[in-house]
Amino acid sequence: MQDLPTIILVGPMGAGKSTIGRLLAAELKREFFDSDHEIEARCGANIAWIFDVEGERGFRDRETHMLRELAGREAIVLATGGGAVMREDNRQALRERGTVVYLATSVEQQIRRTARDRNRPLLRQGNPEQVLRDLFAKRDPLYRATADLTVRTDRRGPRAVVNEIIRRTKR
Ligand code: S3P
Repeated sequence: MQDLPTIILVGPMGAGKSTIGRLLAAELKREFFDSDHEIEARCGANIAWIFDVEGERGFRDRETHMLRELAGREAIVLATGGGAVMREDNRQALRERGTVVYLATSVEQQIRRTARDRNRPLLRQGNPEQVLRDLFAKRDPLYRATADLTVRTDRRGPRAVVNEIIRRTKR
């Protein structure tokens, strides 16, 4: 499946970026990277700790650095964090390095998928549903502006989503 370029998944928390990314990579026999996971491994601490100690700004700096490093690899599948599109230079870097797929979902689905998660510090900054709605309003246009294609993940299972991505990204 080398006729497919690097595939970069963007979208909000709970859209299924890691699950779908892992399945997609297995299907394409590619390496899979999750930028949050790589940041945690590099730092030796989890996302919540990084936010507590370094603030969101510190986390975003680490994220910017990691995205550059990962997106530079050939023919991989990369899942990004939900805020990866917040910086203009990140959006540009992602677009230059691969086919960007926006995994879009409903806030209701996000709530269900993130309900028990303690490692998503933004959700502790207020009522989680309101936080997700506010983030959606701000970020949905940025995801759309960055992505080459948008695929919904809230209406069917991950396998069907993976098949659609493969079908629509084939050159
Ligand atoms: C964030 C999303 C998280 C993680 C961090 C910030 C965001 O990633 O990067 O908590 O700003 O939406 P996921 O989208 O993988 O949950």
